[in-house]
Amino acid sequence: MHIIAVINQKGGVGKTTTTVNLGAALARLGKQVLLLDLDPQANLSLHLDRRPELEEATMTQLLVEDRPLAELIRPTGTKGLWVVAADTSLGGVEQVLANRIGRETILREAFESYRAEPRFDYVLIDCPPSLGVLSANALCAAGEVLIPMQTEYFSLQGMAKLTEVIQLVKRRLNPAIEIGCVLPCMVDLRTRLTGEVLDNIGTYFGDRLARAFIRSNVKLAEAPSFGATIFDHAPDSNGASDYWDFACEFLVRHGEQVAPERLEEARDAASAAAAAAVAAAREEARESAKARETGPSAGSGPTAEAGGEPATAAGEA
Ligand SMILES: Nc1ncnc2c1ncn2[C@@H]1O[C@H](COP(=O)(O)OP(=O)(O)OP(=O)(O)O)[C@@H](O)[C@H]1O
Ligand SMILES: [Mg+2]
Repeated sequence: MHIIAVINQKGGVGKTTTTVNLGAALARLGKQVLLLDLDPQANLSLHLDRRPELEEATMTQLLVEDRPLAELIRPTGTKGLWVVAADTSLGGVEQVLANRIGRETILREAFESYRAEPRFDYVLIDCPPSLGVLSANALCAAGEVLIPMQTEYFSLQGMAKLTEVIQLVKRRLNPAIEIGCVLPCMVDLRTRLTGEVLDNIGTYFGDRLARAFIRSNVKLAEAPSFGATIFDHAPDSNGASDYWDFACEFLVRHGEQVAPERLEEARDAASAAAAAAVAAAREEARESAKARETGPSAGSGPTAEAGGEPATAAGEA
């Protein structure tokens, strides 16, 4: 069982969208997948059309009342995709647990004592946009983190803090935790800045930067209001294609075989063209950075769109 914390303390970067749609793609690829909603906003639960307030089976019961995980898992509309929902009561949990010894490891212990069916291949934890007790529980339970990131000028800001927290958890509470993968989300291929930021993210994270990326796609933004995954809401959209592509890469990164016809499904002409466009944008950004360093006309390059020197954000490393 791989447990993955989907985390970035920056808000609105695509954590919930990624948790839902990566999970749905993995389930469609034949995996048993559990999603945990660890965010008091309960966006993941609503996205999957759960009404946790009617069920009283939420993450709050697990974290505060020590209810076993097995009692809280519910099916979703996708075969093989399961969820433990959240409701707004999760917002009070940090305070309730404030004086409890071992409060960061409650979720990990819940997994250690989980003996029920189904046996999950992958668990994806949707974290809140903060680094408090809820996120700490995710980091202590997880073997790896998945960091969704927007390709904006300031997107690397805060990464020093996040990697510091992950290192601290690794040293003190969970030696197994690793940064698994960084996924660019809401990528806009029309701006030059995208290539520059992708290049900076690549410099910072190396091969942990995913090859796949998620383009900005209105269907992804619409899907939550229908309580549906992108594969049910708009199976022919770029959003579905991109998350399918990423799910295949994700499986390969976990040492799994993906049938060639599945990979082909993932790489339709549109996403191949998009990948080429990003590669070109990154190359162009590298060339213009080189020109700035060496040429006499340094600073007069066409990167004014970035509003400054992109290396500054990466410099947090
Ligand atoms: N690729 C995309 N294209 C267009 N819209 C997107 C895309 N990904 C996510 N969105 C939309 O952007 C908003 C933020 O996404 P999401 O809720 O996944 O981010 P988040 O990181 O979970 O936010 P929070 O930090 O508040 O939990 C949502 O309205 C979502 O529908
Ligand atoms: Mg969210």
